[in-house]
Amino acid sequence: MKKEILIVAASDGNNLKLANTLLDVSKDYDANFEVLKLSDFNLPIYTSSEEKNGTPKDAIALTDKFMKADGFIVIAPEYNGSVPPILINSISWISRSGNDNWRDAFNSKPVVLATHSGGGGQHVLMAMQEQFSFIGCTIIGRKLHTHYQKQLNFDSAKATIEQLVRLAKA
Ligand SMILES: Cc1cc2nc3c(=O)[nH]c(=O)nc-3n(C[C@H](O)[C@H](O)[C@H](O)COP(=O)(O)O)c2cc1C
Repeated sequence: MKKEILIVAASDGNNLKLANTLLDVSKDYDANFEVLKLSDFNLPIYTSSEEKNGTPKDAIALTDKFMKADGFIVIAPEYNGSVPPILINSISWISRSGNDNWRDAFNSKPVVLATHSGGGGQHVLMAMQEQFSFIGCTIIGRKLHTHYQKQLNFDSAKATIEQLVRLAKA
């Protein structure tokens, strides 16, 4: 069975472009890669109201995608020195989607962290490292970062994706 890797884009501008560039790079590797745009999922802001209002069907669909993946590339812009709200909101919904085994969406799965940000993106990378390791992912040490004056380093991208595919378990 082929390994399934989700390339998660947390914004629709340069970060989505970076996701599609990494999808091109990934064609050289023996795994199925898919770009997932978080904005395609219609999720209200998470406010602990699921017992009263129910869980949105898009939260269940998003959780299912994460459950089925064997590894991730998560690409998010830096917002105010941290992660964008859509990423936190998505993780919150996944953790409360009604499935008691929600940790299976993340546990022991390798993740590459990447960003296109206004500056170096070091703060969002650190914030994602903290969060994804807390929810059980294995973080790949090498990060991918681009900004308006810095293009993607393709050698770095290839080495990182190779490591991700090696660590992912189908
Ligand atoms: C609300 C907001 C906050 C931002 N804060 C930061 C920041 O703290 N550090 C930074 O380097 N860039 C910051 N930026 C710039 C974005 O990281 C940058 O424009 C990025 O390319 C946006 O992603 P996108 O092109 O995929 O939409 C901020 C942008 C917005 C809209």
